Amino acid sequence: MDRFIIEGGVRLKGTVELSGAKNAVLPILAATLLTNGKSIIRNVPPLSDVYTMLRIMRYLGVKVTMEDGAVTVDPRNYSNYRAPYKLVSTMRASICLLGPILAKLKHAEVSMPGGCVIGTRPIDLHLKGLRSIGADIKIEHGYVIADGKNMKGSRVYLGGKFGSSVLATANILMAATLTKGKTVIESAACEPELTDMANFLCKMGAKIKGQGTPIIEIEGVRSLSGAQHSVIYDRIEAGTFMIAAAITGGDVVIKHACVNHLGAVIDRLENAGIKISKTKEGLRVRKTRSLKPVDVTTLPYPGFPTDMQAQMMALMSVTKGISIITEKVYPERFMHVSELSRMGAQIMLETPNAIIKGSSKISGAPVMASDLRASAALILAGLVAKGKTEISRIYHIDRGYHNIEEKFEKLGARIKREKEY
Ligand code: UD1
Repeated sequence: MDRFIIEGGVRLKGTVELSGAKNAVLPILAATLLTNGKSIIRNVPPLSDVYTMLRIMRYLGVKVTMEDGAVTVDPRNYSNYRAPYKLVSTMRASICLLGPILAKLKHAEVSMPGGCVIGTRPIDLHLKGLRSIGADIKIEHGYVIADGKNMKGSRVYLGGKFGSSVLATANILMAATLTKGKTVIESAACEPELTDMANFLCKMGAKIKGQGTPIIEIEGVRSLSGAQHSVIYDRIEAGTFMIAAAITGGDVVIKHACVNHLGAVIDRLENAGIKISKTKEGLRVRKTRSLKPVDVTTLPYPGFPTDMQAQMMALMSVTKGISIITEKVYPERFMHVSELSRMGAQIMLETPNAIIKGSSKISGAPVMASDLRASAALILAGLVAKGKTEISRIYHIDRGYHNIEEKFEKLGARIKREKEY
């Protein structure tokens, strides 16, 4: 296992280049299983979650190769419809294989993914949606067993207790592309990663209207062909570097950052006093005056992303004054609070609210990463803390950020990866 050692106190400066979006590439890889031909996906970040997805696809009998950020997928001879627990349990997003396998092979058996530290993470909306288009589904021995012989297009309402669901929308959308008749998804997720996947499906020959809005219409087609696609850049990685610039009082250009995908993050940071401008390359983010606290509520897109909540909390912990962060997507997603507190942050938790009494004084400490975005928050805190921060269990961060320490080092940060015994 590796750990990060960070010496805080450096103002970050320079240009950082984003990688392809993890949350787009995973459903896009799953979507290739719907086709009868070869697909080439570009701008694929070499992340451990991507390798997990490729491992599952190979297990199913799909030919997959990855070279220089391009994945070639040939699903022509796959006939294995069972994604086993030992592979699925390592990555929750593998649930998005259910829809495409079911639509293509008319039968799918996918292990229930289980919970994770950020909450219970049910899959009721995935099952409800697939049942609405005629799938016969039972849960047996920890597996979702789905039969698709009688599937037909229908109206599907996907709103849940916490709003729309990204991967449930992905699953129903993918399944509906090869399902006879018209499917209308209401209360669909609008996340840009999902729109990117829908655009890829259209290149494959799917008939889809309304992607990026809460109502998506799909007219089923008989077959889909392979296609080529370049994955969008990672808006959460962009947001993480925006906060890195803000928290260190730096001046950073984030290459490929897309303003349209970052509206809520830009709004909160500008309200806090950060200067953000569009450049030819992407976005320039700098701190030109002292910051003030802002309240944040996470919501499905276009609201403030839950995947940026922990990073925002790190920033508010060092911004003088009181702020309230309300988590409306995963109300239990506060594992980072205790670790930030070990560094001197003053945070009171009244789930789903965190009340933060910001101060400029936090100090380096040994801390433990608990999940992907919590790890990012600890790095951000480490960058501004006095002294040395040691972050253990950083395999979490390798799931979603490619070469993060090299990118930070290039901006001047004192961060290194060490083997942990
Ligand atoms: C995706 C993202 C993840 C992000 C999350 C919310 C990927 C690979 N992962 O996860 O990084 O944090 O969106 O933006 O894209 N829910 C139900 N029933 C369901 C499904 C979800 O109640 O059947 C609830 C969840 O518990 C949560 C909320 O809906 O409270 C949103 O979850 P969802 O959008 O499904 O998250 P994922 O798609 O799994």
